[in-house]
Amino acid sequence: MALKRSLTAVLACAIAVCAQLEGLTELTPSFLPLQEDAGTTSLFPMPPCGNFDLVEATIDDIQAAMANGTLTSTQLVICCLQRTYQTQDYLRSIAQVNPDVFAIAAALDAERATGSVHPHG
Ligand SMILES: *[C@@H]1O[C@H](CO)[C@@H](O)[C@H](O)[C@H]1NC(C)=O
Repeated sequence: MALKRSLTAVLACAIAVCAQLEGLTELTPSFLPLQEDAGTTSLFPMPPCGNFDLVEATIDDIQAAMANGTLTSTQLVICCLQRTYQTQDYLRSIAQVNPDVFAIAAALDAERATGSVHPHG
């Protein structure tokens, strides 16, 4: 399936980016759903995104974490893509990933680093 190949390519890219970024969790074998976790709340574990816990986070929490430097746009993209890849076979939540997603995130991180933050759609 083209979508699955595309997500695999994006995840491989994300892993490469992860390896270069400090503070991101490393992928572990428990990242993907394991048969032994079927029927438990551990089936889709969600590790912290760098030093930020995305589980139950609100948009306001995410914005605050980005404002205080706990979370970058690039980290958020990686973590959301990881989550999408992890659950895609079950939820089919994403039809297409913008191939420019990492470039856009990096540009927003660079913009924020200058102290200039503008709303983006
Ligand atoms: C940054 O903001 C997040 C979200 O409000 C919060 O959880 C975290 O403790 C804050 N960290 C610092 C260093 O202020």
